[in-house]
Amino acid sequence: MSSLRSFDGPRIKARYEPGQPYETIRLDRMTPVIGAEISGVDLAAPTNRQMDEIHRALAEHLVIFFRDQRMTQDQHLEFGRRFGELHLHPAAPHEPGHPELMVIKADENSKRANGEGWHSDVSCDEEPPMGSILYIKECPPAGGDTLFASMYAAHDALSDRMKAYLDGLVAEHSGEHVYRGMYANEGVGDKPRYPRAEHPVLRTHPVTGRRALYVNRGFTTRILGIPRDESDAILGYLYEHMENPLFQCRFRWQPNSVAFWDNRCAQHRAMWDYWPHRRYGNRVTVKGERPV
Ligand code: SIN
Repeated sequence: MSSLRSFDGPRIKARYEPGQPYETIRLDRMTPVIGAEISGVDLAAPTNRQMDEIHRALAEHLVIFFRDQRMTQDQHLEFGRRFGELHLHPAAPHEPGHPELMVIKADENSKRANGEGWHSDVSCDEEPPMGSILYIKECPPAGGDTLFASMYAAHDALSDRMKAYLDGLVAEHSGEHVYRGMYANEGVGDKPRYPRAEHPVLRTHPVTGRRALYVNRGFTTRILGIPRDESDAILGYLYEHMENPLFQCRFRWQPNSVAFWDNRCAQHRAMWDYWPHRRYGNRVTVKGERPV
């Protein structure tokens, strides 16, 4: 078992040593701030030392990519479990018999696709997922890329005055407006209730100790304790700020590529520019902790 398995805050922080060379995987950075492509590992059967280095690569690069992987559904789930307990999505369809294996699919019948706007997965949960592992099996002939943005970089680029203003503020995140009716086309009915949570606008990553901006266009509905118009204006500014291309990388999928992103410090956005073509895969999502 990996010695970094549980990712439980202070214990791991002490073990997290950024900047060391990788010995059991090959890593190529995509940009200076976010994204790395990893090769030389079979995710169906990684060694414990490779798992340790994958944990570290995720902490250092926020989203990591793998090509030409061949995992069964069970191996995909097992890989996810090595990072923690698996998360059950509150609304999305899953593979038959595998509630933790979310279906990511768009084709000629789709009215919309998953994750089209910038978001951090299920931030409306009280304990939002730490990470998501997307394994794409079918790609359109062109398009269907996913964009990722570093919320550390977005935080660090704020003025000191803005950081001081945001420090201590709390925002409401809701799933209601996102999920209600979203999966009707796939035969998934609405739930009576959807998650809602309150999270700090700036959070501290439990592994790296770095501060990240933690509001997103998808789920955040308002900043609490300030007038509505002020909240709208501040959130509007933050959303524009965090979408600066300097904070981003963009991944071009091929069949059997895997992306593993850290929802605590990165947001993502899936491009639905390939209709009427089909894109299909599965996402395994790993539970996280209450943001602080
Ligand atoms: C998502 O999980 O938000 C979807 C990402 C993607 O389809 O690229």
